Order: sequence, then C-alpha cells, then structure tokens
Amino acid sequence: MKYVLGIDLGTSGTKTVLFQQDGVGVCSATVEYPMSQPQNGWAEQDPKDWWNAAVSTVKTVLTKSGVDPKDVVSLGISGQMHGLVMLDENGEVLRPSIIWCDQRTQVECDEITEKVGYDNLIRITANPALTGFTLSKIMWVRKHQPEIYAKCRHILLPKDYVRYMLTGDYATEVSDASGMQLLDVPNRCWSDELLQILDIDKSLLAKVYESCEVTGHVSEAAAALTGLTADTLVVGGAGDNAAAAVGTGVVEDGKAFTTIGTSGVIFAHTDKLSIDPQGRVHTFCCAVPGAWHVMGVTQAAGFSLKWFRDNFCAAEKETAAAMGIDAYELTNKEAAQSPIGANKLIYAPYLMGERTPHLDADCRGMFFGLSGMHQRRDLLRAVMEGVSYSLKDCLGVLNGMGVDPAQMLACGGGGKSPLWRQMLADVFNCPVATTVNTEGPALGVAILAGVGAGLYPSVQEACRAMIHVNEPQNPIEENVPQYAKVYEVFKKIYPANKDLFKELGKI
Ligand code: XUL
Repeated sequence: MKYVLGIDLGTSGTKTVLFQQDGVGVCSATVEYPMSQPQNGWAEQDPKDWWNAAVSTVKTVLTKSGVDPKDVVSLGISGQMHGLVMLDENGEVLRPSIIWCDQRTQVECDEITEKVGYDNLIRITANPALTGFTLSKIMWVRKHQPEIYAKCRHILLPKDYVRYMLTGDYATEVSDASGMQLLDVPNRCWSDELLQILDIDKSLLAKVYESCEVTGHVSEAAAALTGLTADTLVVGGAGDNAAAAVGTGVVEDGKAFTTIGTSGVIFAHTDKLSIDPQGRVHTFCCAVPGAWHVMGVTQAAGFSLKWFRDNFCAAEKETAAAMGIDAYELTNKEAAQSPIGANKLIYAPYLMGERTPHLDADCRGMFFGLSGMHQRRDLLRAVMEGVSYSLKDCLGVLNGMGVDPAQMLACGGGGKSPLWRQMLADVFNCPVATTVNTEGPALGVAILAGVGAGLYPSVQEACRAMIHVNEPQNPIEENVPQYAKVYEVFKKIYPANKDLFKELGKI
C-alpha cells in the first residue's frame, strides 16, 4: 500500500492527514495558532507558527499511524490564500505575514486601479483590485516599511513558505498565485505587463506550476525534522478553496460546493474562463490543469461563530471540555432551540469587512433587531443564519452568471453541523450533501499528490476513485419561505448602513 499526505494550512490551525492511496484517511493531527489584530481591520500571523505546526503534525501522523515513511510517496500543501510572506536574501522572514482578511490596503487598491485601469486589470487578472489580495499588501509594505521592502528578495504565499521550508524551493502554483493579483489568469503565468506598470521585480516571485505538478522533494534537513524521507515528492498543491474543490470532487462543469471555514465560500468549477464584470465574485485558475473556478467569499463565516463562542460562550466551552466534546456541539444544540428567524433577530457577518457582493473593506458586523426577549440561543442561531444568508448572496451572483448547481457539496468545520447544513439547504432551496471523507482541502491536495506521483492519470480520475458522496439533506418545504422572508430584510441591512460604516470608520 502506498500513502499520500495532505497538509492544510488554515487560518485557525494546520491539519495534516495521511491517506491511503485509495483516499481512506489513516491518521490526522491539528495544531492551532493565533491571529493578531494590531488594529481594527488588520490581521497578521507568524509564518514560523505555520512551519512549526506543519513539522509537528507531520511527525505526529507518521508516529501515530506507524506507516513506514518510505511508503509515503508524495505530499501536497493546501493553504489560506493571499497572505504576504517576505523573505530576505537568506530566506529569513522579514515581518509577520499580512493575511487574507486584513483590510488596511484600500488606498493601495485605488492606486492599482488608477495605474493599471479597471478594464485592463480585469482582462489580465480576472478580478478588480481587492484589499484581501496580495498585490495591495506588497504595495502597502513598499510605502509604509520601505526598509523592509528594500531587504525583500522573495515573496511567497503561506503554503509556499511551508513548501520552501520543506524543500528549499521557491515555487507556487496557479490556483493560489491567481489570488496574488499578479498572475495573468487566462494564460496561467506572471503578467510582465502588470509587473512593469507597478514596478515590481519579477525575480521576487516564485516559479509557477500547475497544481498537480511535482515542484521538488523533501530536503534532508526537513526529513530529519519531520520523519519523512527525502524521496517524498512535493506537488504544487492548491489554495484552500481550489483544494477543497478537488477534495469534494468539484472538478467538472455543473459541480459546486460551499465551505464554512474561517471564511465562507460558494465555489463552482468552469472549463471556460468566466468573469463577473462587476468583480463581485473571483475568477481564479483551478487545480485541474487548463480549467478555472468562480467563487464568492463571505469574509467572516466560521470566524463569526468562533468569535461568538470565544467571547460569549465560556460556560459552553467549560462544559464541553469537561464532557470531552467540541463546544460547537453545545452551541449547535442551543441554536436549534431558537426558531427560524431567531425571533426576529438578524446578524450581518461583516466582522472583517465584506467581499461578495459588497466589496467593502469598511463595513462591520451587526445584530439587527435586538430585543429584551432575546437569549443567547437566539444570537447563536442568528449568527448561523446570517452566514447562510451571506452565502446565499454569493450564490445569487453565481446564478446571475448562469451557474445553477443541482446539488451543493458542503465542507469546512461549519459543514460538519447538520443544523447548519439544513439551514443552507433551506436558504439555498437546494440539496446539500457531504462527502464520506470530510477532510476537504487536505484530501484535495493528497489527491493532487497522488496524481503528481503517477498513482492516477488525472485529477478527475483520481477523484472518481477516491471520493464518495453521502445522501444529501433536502430542503424542508415549509422552511424555505420562512427563511426567504428574513433574507429579504437581510439584503437591505448593508445598503441601509453603507454610509454609516464609513462614518464610524473615520471616528
Ligand atoms: C479566498 C480567501 C479565503 C482564504 C482563507 O479568496 O480569502 O477563503 O483562502 O480561507
């Protein structure tokens, strides 16, 4: 039996899963790390935390499983997208990584649009300038920390930093590179035109591969640290969403999935390049060679519930710890006691600004309709419903582009909750299914690793062999119009407060 390894570098932690070559999970390990918010709207992490978590989780799965490291033929890394890692000439980290949900760069985005031109930017990168993407973060450091920029010799994405530490190679791949906003997305290579207009040296950027191509192998030094052998191949891997697509079998036209991780995403595969001219959803290269995907993003999805749990559910956390269960099991039970509409309470999940459909770095979250009769269970339910409505906003934009999936796969931490999945089925009015193996992004990159090592001839064939789908949860007929009524009010909350958010930001 041969084995493949998937390392999923998320925002709340890194999870590493060892799979048999047929996709059966053997052993997994997770290590969490913090995110710092030095100012309202800023978000940073320490790349060293990612590397330490990767080393420790790989070591744990190898030790716990007892699998002979020689049989682990290849590995892939999936990563939170867009984060900026800057290294000096010795490969040392120059500053904390400014990560995907950081919102400090609106001025730089305006500058990019002005210099490149809106239409030109969409033609080359398939997306408008966004605060979340890497390019505006690079320009922010150049302007505000010129001494750091001057020392910078390599710019990497989060997962590509871990690849560098693991292999010594400066490499990236098309799906994650698409989110830097320096890639010519239609042609799957760095855009010389853009680099020239913005005066960014191409030598700072890593070599671009397709996601299932081999980029190198584990170095002797990393083998000694992790327990892997230096023969283990490392493939391109993928941005977390492109990886989750492979891990849920969303690798051909007509297929779509939703994920509730720290962020929330509605993702559809497309064999033909398709772009929303208003830029409300992203078009990126996907992990299937020669194909793309369109996706809408809710900035704070699982993060909204985590924020609520960490700040207002100390009792649930304590009880759960004593019972040896996940605190979310208790918060789910509590939320289920509140009726649809949470007793007329609506939550807008804009804790970290919003992308789809508002593209607004300045908006912030809110509970709308708070009453003296509300209890914690209503607030919990409102948070889960508000995230579901926001994902419905994303689906609406995709519907307008002609994407109308007959069934939605669900993954991410939130996708594990039957209550949340039923909400999604009722709010989308569409069946929602899970895969038998729920490791999403980790499985996705392990599949890419299997293809890269020659265990499977193509990503699609590997998915057919390795992914199995459970029976879906269907929409409950009487729930659908009840959620639809609340959604009508939800849709009006952002436009009604748009200017107030800006006023608040200026205080
Ligand atoms: C996608 C995005 C998030 C991050 C973190 O554009 O920013 O999904 O990848 O998960």
